Amino acid sequence: MNTVYSIEDIRDYVQTVKAAGKTVALVPTMGNLHDGHLTLVTKAKELADVVIVSIYVNQMQFGPNEDYQSYPRTMAQDEALLEEHNVDMVFAPTSHIIYPEGLDNHTEIKVEALDGMHCGKSRPNFFTGIATVVTKLFNIVQPDLAVFGEKDFQQLCIIRKMVKDLCLPVEIVGAPIARSETGLALSSRNGYLSEEELEQACLLSQELKKAKAAIEEGNANYDILQRDAIAHLAESGFQPDYFNIIRRSDLHTAGPNDKELIILAAAALGKARLIDNIQIDL
Ligand code: PAJ
Repeated sequence: MNTVYSIEDIRDYVQTVKAAGKTVALVPTMGNLHDGHLTLVTKAKELADVVIVSIYVNQMQFGPNEDYQSYPRTMAQDEALLEEHNVDMVFAPTSHIIYPEGLDNHTEIKVEALDGMHCGKSRPNFFTGIATVVTKLFNIVQPDLAVFGEKDFQQLCIIRKMVKDLCLPVEIVGAPIARSETGLALSSRNGYLSEEELEQACLLSQELKKAKAAIEEGNANYDILQRDAIAHLAESGFQPDYFNIIRRSDLHTAGPNDKELIILAAAALGKARLIDNIQIDL
């Protein structure tokens, strides 16, 4: 396994492997890799001949008061893990490569239809930053397919819509949420939790499961279920942002006739902002 840093080097590599008739998968990440990221790598290896993992902490998707500076950067550890998992190539550009003229006046990709809801409500430029950097990564690497986690379900939907609307020639593959033994969705930001908070953190997934069970038993009072879950999370020490029972197709509020649902939830615990979700088929 090798790591390359420049657009020229990754393009040369991809051109060579494609010329040899091989298919290429990209797994975009911000590094500080955990088993969640590695499940995406495993999926990518199943689907393509060559797997490239990008590691880039994208400033454009962080708000001014968010953790861009302190976001964990663990390059050597990440490379060792990827080597162990037989990844073929790491692309680790710097911001000089991705935003050579800085962030001001950079062209932006905004997936308007899915942007202002859920996480986008409390993180105004978040999804524009993601859609823009992912477009750039696709244009730089030109993979046949790219794998994203269902943990960031709104992100996955936004990328799917962007690819469709802009006719980007890349297949988007989703991978299920990887969890710890307690049910906590794995995340780089779990590292911000104290030991006590780590124990508490699994309450978020438990609250999702509880609401799912109630809905499957026929409870269609979604407003009340949402309010109860938020109150319970607040009582348990979280600062809930949202707990939304919605349609999987367009991420809008679910009605009584909708069958394919998902609950998206976000809540801060100590210094970590946690997100999680659960799918429901009625
Ligand atoms: P990052 O948070 O590093 O996540 C990289 C990929 O790993 C995303 O597709 C995310 O959904 C997936 N992932 C994270 N935790 C997971 C878990 N517990 N189970 C399954 N998949 C998981 O998401 C980003 O980076 C960035 O926004 C990025 C797409 C790289 C653009 O900057």
